[in-house]
Amino acid sequence: MRAAVVERAGEPPRVVDRAVPLTGDGELRVTVTAVPITPLDLLCASGTSYFGLPAFPYVPGVQGVGRLADGTPVWFPTDAGMKPGDGSMAEQAVVPAAAVARLPADVDHRLVAALGLSAVAAWHALTDRGGLAAGEQVLVLGAGGVVGQAAIQIAKLHGARRVVAAARSVAARERAHRAGADVVVAVHPRDDVTALARRFGDAAGGPVDLVLDPVFGLPGAAALRTLGVGGRLVNLGSAAADTAPLDSATLRSRSLRVLGYTNAELSPERTARTISEIARHAAAGRLTVAYEHLPLEAATDAWHRQATGDVPGRIVLTAGFGRAAPGRAAGMIATELLDRVFVGEERLSSDEIHRRMVALDPPADVLIAFDHLPEGEYSVDEVAEIIGTEEPI
Ligand SMILES: NC(=O)c1ccc[n+]([C@@H]2O[C@H](COP(=O)([O-])OP(=O)(O)OC[C@H]3O[C@@H](n4cnc5c(N)ncnc54)[C@H](OP(=O)(O)O)[C@@H]3O)[C@@H](O)[C@H]2O)c1
Repeated sequence: MRAAVVERAGEPPRVVDRAVPLTGDGELRVTVTAVPITPLDLLCASGTSYFGLPAFPYVPGVQGVGRLADGTPVWFPTDAGMKPGDGSMAEQAVVPAAAVARLPADVDHRLVAALGLSAVAAWHALTDRGGLAAGEQVLVLGAGGVVGQAAIQIAKLHGARRVVAAARSVAARERAHRAGADVVVAVHPRDDVTALARRFGDAAGGPVDLVLDPVFGLPGAAALRTLGVGGRLVNLGSAAADTAPLDSATLRSRSLRVLGYTNAELSPERTARTISEIARHAAAGRLTVAYEHLPLEAATDAWHRQATGDVPGRIVLTAGFGRAAPGRAAGMIATELLDRVFVGEERLSSDEIHRRMVALDPPADVLIAFDHLPEGEYSVDEVAEIIGTEEPI
């Protein structure tokens, strides 16, 4: 099978052939369809996480989406980079049965992959940890990230009266707007705590009940000052800084609570239940996030781009979307062909398309009908447009 493999700390993965993993007791094989590249993947592979150096070489990917042998769509977590063993950035993965979350049949695999554990963190940090109650006002920091975009929507789903969002770049603020924030505040590199707290306060127009904070540092300290009596700040990341200048007067004058959150405390079953719920909201169009998808073969470049922040949202690698099945009606095309065969502007006749399809091995279970195309020549973009979707059917 094809797999992205990290060979040394701090290097992006290379896509190589790797042995198909074997299943053990209580494990399931998943044919992978979509895998996000997340901050945790980058951190683990850097060798600087508190899990220490991974056992190189290994397949990264702490989560993924795919299908079980019977076709059931699932989301799954892995320990890649945290414990020895392979993760999700491969055509196949082996995972503990208890950790697998069943997904609705009609959900976009790439969207669930993009939401993934970031949305789980936003969900539990707001609800169980943050105690969000209907009618409350929420301030979401880092609102252009996946945690932030998901938090805006999840807060609304749980009855938040108003969501104020804060983000640095114009593009990040636009994502926060699209996610449904009532007002979006700009965070500038030269802000001081007092000025930023005033901007947050003006946007909130009254006390904030709950701050969802994936960034900490100066924005976290400024957000704390907007909280009303009994307000809570839940920190779940340190994208801005590892420490924050929280002041005692703010903390004690309103009996505030500063709380930490980690997904690591959730049981696999609990994580799976929350993912299933998130996927139901996603399938119903109530929860979405900005992402870009690229084939697994592009993992090296995609990893580099995600690491340098050169992306309009989460990058999701796609794999195993299927191959043509010999013996099926001639004129069927798998989406993977669009990634692997129709490279660049190469134009292929429909005969050549069929020839390449049936030459693929192993045969696929996921196909897209191509029957209705008239004989002729098609560019990649034309084929994609005619098919109209990359969803498996
Ligand atoms: N505790 C947990 O269980 C858990 C789970 C998932 C994620 N996290 C953590 O939460 C954080 C966000 O995750 P994500 O999935 O949303 O990541 P993401 O989609 O890659 O987004 C990056 C986030 O980091 C912010 N950021 C990056 N550099 C920054 C800087 N120098 N100053 C201020 N903000 C900066 C961005 O803010 P802008 O919107 O302003 O661009 C954005 O919110 C990460 O640190 C991640 O490790 C924790």
